[in-house]
Amino acid sequence: EPQELVDAFEARVAADEFIEPKDWMPEAYRKTLIRQISQHAHSEVVGMLPEGNWITRAPSLRRKAVLLAKVQDEGGHGLYLYCAAETLGASREEMIDALHSGRAKYSTIFNYPTLTWADIGAIGWLVDGAAIMNQVPLQRTSYGPYARAMVRVCKEESFHQRQGYEIMMVLANGTPEQREMAQDALNRWWWPSLMMFGPSDENSPNTAQSMRWRIKRDTNDELRQKFVDVTVPQAEFLGLTVPDPDLKWNAERGAYDFGAVDWEEFYAVVRGEGPVARERMLARRKAWDDNRWVREAAAAHEAKRAAKKAA
Ligand code: 3HC
Repeated sequence: EPQELVDAFEARVAADEFIEPKDWMPEAYRKTLIRQISQHAHSEVVGMLPEGNWITRAPSLRRKAVLLAKVQDEGGHGLYLYCAAETLGASREEMIDALHSGRAKYSTIFNYPTLTWADIGAIGWLVDGAAIMNQVPLQRTSYGPYARAMVRVCKEESFHQRQGYEIMMVLANGTPEQREMAQDALNRWWWPSLMMFGPSDENSPNTAQSMRWRIKRDTNDELRQKFVDVTVPQAEFLGLTVPDPDLKWNAERGAYDFGAVDWEEFYAVVRGEGPVARERMLARRKAWDDNRWVREAAAAHEAKRAAKKAA
């Protein structure tokens, strides 16, 4: 690539300018953005499955309506992000095929089962809480369409996090069985939520380049630390115990020291060995096949409208 174009691009990014679809960009910048944005979209769409599991079993009409709204939001986030990836030249079919064939990744967090209603609270509180920590800085990511998509997504994530925390508050202040359910959900979702931030910085092949190109504004470990510092007081307010015996406030650092993430588990789940990974892929492939007629009908309708307009 012509050096003067690369230099001009680097200068624009360093000046915190947004790069827009029609602007010149290094092929590697385009490629890593398609990688990150499409996998972000896959995560949103697969993320509908664990929560969808409880829509028909929500404990009240209000909880059902709120969960329905949240799951629909996640689907919308996925479509928003597929569109952002398409502005870089990615095709929807290719991205979906990459997900269904296992070539593309989606967040490890969605490979864990939702065993009780308290999991819906823990997911909203912890998983959407981690997503907010990760997505707020992405509102200033250097690629314009991605940054703008994040502004809308973050507004909805806040509602997701609040409704989850409210579920945990009700359970934590409920009967002993309800308290136990809330603690059990925290025990199962705490560490997988920390894994959402990715491998440690020294084991992250993409972070250095993504920081230089201001795709990322903070590193994986920085965001993980911020998440722990914000979330531990929330667990204490609920009277619940974070399942980490090494968790301790470090006054010198002004942050919590915490235990080591189980990277064995992380990489196993990234490799597709998560507890319900197979079911997630089967469900996505089935939905894609079952809804083929909707896509074909929409395409036929579009073709008719175009023909009418051209006549
Ligand atoms: N699950 C699956 N794969 C993961 C992962 C995780 N939790 N964390 C990292 N990886 C993958 C990366 O994709 C990368 O593989 P690749 O090169 O084949 O894509 C590899 O592990 C090494 O990780 P890196 O840190 O080098 O990769 P990144 O620099 O891309 O950082 C990331 C990973 C922090 C997830 C970053 O991609 C990111 O910020 N993505 C946007 C946010 C996102 O995708 N969040 C996923 C959850 S969506 C969500 O929470 C929705 C909410 O509504 C619930």
